[in-house]
This record gives sequence, structure tokens and C-alpha cells, in this order.
Amino acid sequence: MTALTLSTSGASALRGDAIVIGVAKGAKGPVVAAGAEAVDQAYDGRLAGVLETLGASGAEGEVTKLPAPAGFKAPLVLAVGLGAEPAKDAGYSGEALRRAAGAAARALSGSRKAGFALPLSGAADAGAVAEGALLGAYAFDAYKTNAKDAKDADTKPNGKNAKSGKNGKGPLAEVALLGGKPRDKAYKAAVERAAAVAEELNRARDLINTPPNDLDPEAFAAVASAAGKEHGIKVQVLDEKALTKGGYGGILGVGAGSAAAPRLVKLSYTHPKAAKHLAFVGKGITYDSGGISLKPAGHNETMKCDMSGAAAVFAAVVAAARLGLKVNVTGWLALAENMPSGSATRPGDVLRMYSGKTVEVLNTDAEGRLVLADALWAASQEKPDAIVDVATLTGAMVLALGNRTFGVMANDDAFRSAVVDAAEAVGEESWPMPLPEHLRKGMDSPTADIANMGERMGGGLVAGLFLREFVGEGITWAHLDIAGPAFNEGGPFGYTPKGGTGSSVRTLVRLAELTASGDLG
Ligand code: BES
Ligand code: MN
Ligand code: ZN
Repeated sequence: MTALTLSTSGASALRGDAIVIGVAKGAKGPVVAAGAEAVDQAYDGRLAGVLETLGASGAEGEVTKLPAPAGFKAPLVLAVGLGAEPAKDAGYSGEALRRAAGAAARALSGSRKAGFALPLSGAADAGAVAEGALLGAYAFDAYKTNAKDAKDADTKPNGKNAKSGKNGKGPLAEVALLGGKPRDKAYKAAVERAAAVAEELNRARDLINTPPNDLDPEAFAAVASAAGKEHGIKVQVLDEKALTKGGYGGILGVGAGSAAAPRLVKLSYTHPKAAKHLAFVGKGITYDSGGISLKPAGHNETMKCDMSGAAAVFAAVVAAARLGLKVNVTGWLALAENMPSGSATRPGDVLRMYSGKTVEVLNTDAEGRLVLADALWAASQEKPDAIVDVATLTGAMVLALGNRTFGVMANDDAFRSAVVDAAEAVGEESWPMPLPEHLRKGMDSPTADIANMGERMGGGLVAGLFLREFVGEGITWAHLDIAGPAFNEGGPFGYTPKGGTGSSVRTLVRLAELTASGDLG
């Protein structure tokens, strides 16, 4: 994990591998951002021109490297694009700083230490830069056995490396925030918050990226139990026996085809002075093959990501505990592996759910709603002030909103807006989606109370309507369908890596903070 410090060092005095500065896109070319004054002076005030000569425009995510001027301890200056220069008197947005810091940290992978001299107009900006840098520095190399990747000169013709050991690069080891105020309480708090959130979010990414042969429901539950011990969170794990005894037909039905049995994990973080109780529920399908309604090749290669909702919930509860938020937060991880076999649930089977309702399973690939239904009902029994579930639930939501935006549905318009606002405040893209009543009848079943599939059109909303049936009477509820943004199959951008992204963790943490401070509901 990348270390982070608030430093009083000037840019020239910092002993490290690089100084990171910001460059924005101005009306007449690149504009050097505040924080880079020392570098600009050392270039005789001509830094903007030098950057322009090197081809820099200030576009978001652009990285330009130049040799540090004489007198600097660090050998390299890395100018990172901040995007359009803000209007006079307006500062850079938190998200612009987060993305720039992330892109810079990514470009510096393999380095030991870098000083970040980005424009800071207050403690919140320091928090944003810290968060972006720690998230951007993330690398998942647990399964790389080569000392360096194939590009390395030592690479053998067969692609194997001469040396053994981990992938050579590794994340940027240390980030020093320059221009921060190490003795200022607000700065310290902002940076500590950023570190706790980023560390837990990165842990969620690790879980998502871990291949399904190493992360089955039991293994996930063990990780949650260990983290609970470490952070004073009560963890209860229902194994297949307890699930059977309790009548959790949805979770058991989805897990029935797998050699790895399902689990329901409950994480309880409590604060003695809490006035409110939030419940987070996460879809935790450690691998989604589709079951008997098998997914075709081309649709199952990334389905280890189908536990991203549970990973987000887990990370958010641990972050809430680490931050000591004055709110009770319960996390429910609905863990199962969806596999076809002789013991698998068939299309046509009827499951008796934890709530007592019966569900006709028409498509075993619509499994997320089945495990969530049991977990939502379990969460409802405690009558929390609100429930938020997070799930990589439907391909339809990806078609509707693309790869970077999650959909938000709710049984309460004000709460749905509050969730969308919370997401925006932390730099996550989301969009409110409706739950049209007329789509409910498409799930009518001739045999059971409801079917697990309805009309194809509006499939993401149909799934939301299904979930709503399993939320306790009178409980405020929102559903986040993160199927698009949970897993990045494209190239990295800003602070978002390839693979597991940790989508919705920051939104959940923000909701917990707002609830703790009494600013939500
Ligand atoms: N895990 C998938 C949804 C998904 C798709 C997640 C793409 C991430 C990327 C989910 O379990 C699923 O298979 N949903 C089906 C539902 C359908 C059978 C009603 C879908 O969206 O096709
Ligand atoms: Mn599925
Ligand atoms: Zn799924």
C-alpha cells in the first residue's frame, strides 16, 4: 500500500523521484496551475512555454515529463493535465484534482517517492489529491510471477522471464503532499479520511480481481471475519446449514449447483452514540456462469466481477468503522457461486424465499435478484432507517447507461435524489432510474408468487421491481445497479485502473457520513 504524508518541504528540497505539478487547458494554450511556482521560477517563468513546446495542452489525464531544473533534489518533473482551466475565482473541482493525481500516480508506478505539488485551496482539496493518488497508484500483481513484464530485456523467447519474483513495477511507494498543512487539524482529518477510504476501496478491488478459483463464498466470508476482528466489527456468517435452517431459499437455490457452498455474511458496525441505522446489502456472486441458463462464451470471462456489490458493501462498512462514524451500519454480503451441475436449480424450479414468498426461476442467469431478495428481507427484519443495495445486476443497465455510470432506483424519490447527490459529491457518476409499475405484471407466474424474469425491455428496472418486493413494509430503500462501472475492461483512466474499480464504495461511505451528521433523512 502506498504511504502518504503531508509535507512542508518545498518542491526543490524534496528528496524523491519526481515532483508532480498541474497544467490546465487555457484559452491560449497550457496554463501552469498553482502549486508549481517553484518549478516555474526555476524555469525563469517560462514553464508554460516549455510545456507547450513539449506538446502539452493541459488536457485531462495528459502526462508530460521534463527534467527537473538545476537545484532540485528530485530528477523529474511530471506535469499532469487538469482539463479546462476553471473560471477566475473558481478553483479546480475535487474530481479534477482526484483524476489528475490518479493519472500522475499511475504514470509513476515503480517509483519510490513523489512530491505532489498540485493546486490546493483548502483541506478538502488535499483530501481529493490524496484519494486520487492512492487510488491511482493501485496495482494488482498478486498473480504475476515475472520480475518484469514481457517488455523487459531479460525476457526469454518463450515469454517467460529469466528472473522470478513479482511483476517488477509495483505501485508508487510514497506520496508526499506539498503545500498541505501537516499541523492543521482539517488537513490532517481530510488526508486520514482519504487514506482510510482509499485503502478499503483498494481492498475491494483486490477482492474483485481475485480469480474465482481463489475467492469462493467461504473464502470471502473468511476475509470479512478477519477484517471484522481487526476493526471491531461484529461478523456473523451463516453457512449452508444455517441457511437451510433459516429458510434462505434464494441464496441456497443460486448456490445449489456449485461445489462451493453459499454464505450470508452480516457485518455490524455500531457506534454508542448513533442515532440512525443504515443497512447496506451487496450482491456477492463469486462467479456467474449463468447456471443451467449458461452464458455463452464472450459473456462469462469477466464474471468474477459479479461480487463487486458485496465487495463495495464490505469496504464501506470497514471504512465507516475506521472513521468512527456516529451511525450504525450493517453490511449484508449475499455470497454464492452460480454454476450448472446435476444439483443446480433448473429453469422451472420454484424457490421458497426467506420472506416466505415463492419464486419461479425462469432463467438461472437472473440469480443476483434471488440472493439479494433473501438478504434484503434479512436486513429488513432489523428495521433500519434505510437500506441501500449494490449489485452488478443487469446487462440492461450497461446498455442504458454505459460503462461509467450506475443506475439508482428507489421506493422514495427524495432518497433516490439524495443517493445521486451523494455520488456526485464524491465523484461517482450515477443516474436516477424509474420503477414503472406496469412492468411488474411481466413477472406474474402461473405457478408461484412471482417469476425471476419479466419483460426484456427495461430489464434493469424489472430487476429493481423484483427487489422491491423483498424490502420490508415502510422501509426506505435504494438500489444501485453497478453492472457498467464495476469492472473496467478498457484502459485505465484518472484514478480508475483496469479490472475491478471499487464503484460505489465512496458513495456508500458518503451516505454513512451524511446519516451520521444528520444531513440525510
Ligand atoms: N451478472 C449479470 C449481469 C452483468 C452483466 C453484470 C454484464 C456485469 C456485466 C446478471 O446476473 C445477469 O446475468 N443478468 C441477466 C438477467 C436476465 C437473464 C434477466 C442479464 O442482464 O442478461
Ligand atoms: Mn447472471
Ligand atoms: Zn450475476
